[in-house]
Amino acid sequence: MTQPFLHRPVLLNQSLEYLNIKPGKNYLDGTLGGGGHSKMILEKSSPDGKLVGMDRDAAALMAARENLKIYGDRVLFFERNFSEMAEIKADILFDIHGVLLDLGVSSPQIDRQERGFSFQADGPLDMRMGTSPLTAERVINEYQPSELKRIFWEYGQEKFSGRIARAIVKAREISVITTTGQLAEIIRSTRPEMPTKTLSRIFQAVRIEVNDELGSLKNGLQAAVDIMAPGGRLVVLTYHSLEDGMTKQFFREQADPCTCPKGLPYCACGRKTTIKMLNRKPVVPDDDEVRQNPRSRSAHLRAAEKL
Ligand SMILES: C[S@@+](CC[C@H](N)C(=O)[O-])C[C@H]1O[C@@H](n2cnc3c(N)ncnc32)[C@H](O)[C@@H]1O
Repeated sequence: MTQPFLHRPVLLNQSLEYLNIKPGKNYLDGTLGGGGHSKMILEKSSPDGKLVGMDRDAAALMAARENLKIYGDRVLFFERNFSEMAEIKADILFDIHGVLLDLGVSSPQIDRQERGFSFQADGPLDMRMGTSPLTAERVINEYQPSELKRIFWEYGQEKFSGRIARAIVKAREISVITTTGQLAEIIRSTRPEMPTKTLSRIFQAVRIEVNDELGSLKNGLQAAVDIMAPGGRLVVLTYHSLEDGMTKQFFREQADPCTCPKGLPYCACGRKTTIKMLNRKPVVPDDDEVRQNPRSRSAHLRAAEKL
């Protein structure tokens, strides 16, 4: 029996609206999770729209298979990184009219302590969404102090990065750091009143490094634009400023790629616009949604249409 997959889809109605779901059209969900968004995509594209569902997490995929089984062969499942969606598209025979990327981790990933994502429960220092050889334990025990400081600063935007990196290095000289509890304790020891924010930031930074989340996003955004049919919609839900910044920057570059000096009467660089941005300001959850689902609080939705 699979464990229930308790994840509430974030900005669900807004995502569906921006995807512009139509009966008989086909969609790709690059971050299937338990299939919360996908279930509604399938409802709205019925009776025969297809859904390509990807997730790098085998447990998520298993839950999605169960949750979406009533849709039969309308759904194709792939245990893959969404950065590889072009390879998947090359093997399927239908057009894709929209792509959804609902980034980050799902509630079950955070809540299951054996996955090692949370500082609130003791578990192995793992943090892998998929099966990569790099684990949080390796990052914490093997990275040079300067590399630790860099990832805490770049991916966590934590101002005490240097101090925390030094404390980790000192602790690991005594014994290998193997659990989230040990890591949380070391972080706490660096300041008398440790704000929870710092713990979240450091854990977020390690998670981003372990899963190469920004590398996947960069490649995934480009692949999404490449694989969609003209008029297809790309909807991206981000949960921290690095992801949102990267998405915003990518959309801007695609919507206005010309690098010619201003005032030149014609375009000499030859770069072509590939998308139209559908919202200048990101859509965020309203107070009701945040009250009902606090994990939605940092969500930002950006959408674009392929030309
Ligand atoms: C926020 S959850 C998605 C929840 C889903 N929209 C739902 O409503 O159930 C994010 C999911 O994306 C997956 N994921 C994150 N980055 C990924 C990547 N680069 N490739 C494939 N899956 C990824 C995670 O494993 C996780 O299951």
